[in-house]
Amino acid sequence: MTIETDTGPVGAAHVPVMVAEVVEWLRPRPGACLVDACVGPGGHAAALLARAPGATLLGVDRDPEALALAEARLPAERVVLRHAHFADLRTLIAEVGWDGADAVLLDLGMSSYQLDDPARGFGFRADGPLDMRMDRGATLDAATVVNTWPERDLARILAEYGEEPRARAIARALVRHRPLATTGELARVVGGVLGPGRRGHHPATRTFQAIRMAVNDELDGLGRFLADGYAVLRPGGRIAVLAYHSLEDRHVKTAFRRWAATCLCPPRVMTCACGWDAKVRLLTRRPLRPGAAEIARNPRARSARLRVAERLGGGG
Ligand SMILES: C[S@@+](CC[C@H](N)C(=O)[O-])C[C@H]1O[C@@H](n2cnc3c(N)ncnc32)[C@H](O)[C@@H]1O
Repeated sequence: MTIETDTGPVGAAHVPVMVAEVVEWLRPRPGACLVDACVGPGGHAAALLARAPGATLLGVDRDPEALALAEARLPAERVVLRHAHFADLRTLIAEVGWDGADAVLLDLGMSSYQLDDPARGFGFRADGPLDMRMDRGATLDAATVVNTWPERDLARILAEYGEEPRARAIARALVRHRPLATTGELARVVGGVLGPGRRGHHPATRTFQAIRMAVNDELDGLGRFLADGYAVLRPGGRIAVLAYHSLEDRHVKTAFRRWAATCLCPPRVMTCACGWDAKVRLLTRRPLRPGAAEIARNPRARSARLRVAERLGGGG
């Protein structure tokens, strides 16, 4: 399957973020069982496999078009690809016959090929249908959100997911201009409220992000994985999460801290009664950020935050 845009094959247009750091921290070993739970066009997956001769990789994505790109790029004999949500990773790992993984990567968000393809409706730079579904088999799309959700729900997602200071004014304008059919119309309505953007930022950036996160239920899906995501790791196995949104990163930080805690009892309890044990040790107390050179090369890396943890019980 070839997917082309006016800039060439779209898979080639996605530059993997912090790839050297991801490979260094996940330290994939020869023969290991690796998971890329957001495999996309396979950039990180290819780098992980290149570092670990004989390793096998389970690549997961919600987007069948992303999986087609990964399939074209990665060595078939070393890779198993699954169309699935990463919240179901435990089941997927069991289905391929592994007792756990030695390294797991979640590179959250979208790939450039998704964002840059007007037909997917994620971007405002070219006109396209109001879609924004990562998985085009899903029923909820951006047109449904924009044209049918109550104004207060639109304002809530714009404020919460988009961190948009003018959320209520934009929600009011969206309702007034219904029905909207295209990304261009959506961008124009938002531009009409906010005026021209500053410093190269399109005024609709936050609105598009918020609607996309709602359409794909991104935070809830991440929360479902983070509830017990450590359990997919073998002892000594490592997990790395790349987040591009402060809310996502906060969820990851909170979950990693819980996984690493030795007790989950409320602070004033004198004797521990929770029965919880630390599941991981944190390898990054603060998130790692891309360097200036990477951001200059790949501006989409600028908001990335990388956190890494290691499952306990591996003997160091
Ligand atoms: C940033 S891209 C990954 C790029 C890839 N790491 C690379 O370097 O080529 C994120 C990918 O994760 C997928 N994705 C996002 N949320 C997902 C979820 N909950 N389950 C499975 N895949 C998901 C998206 O469809 C997208 O293809």
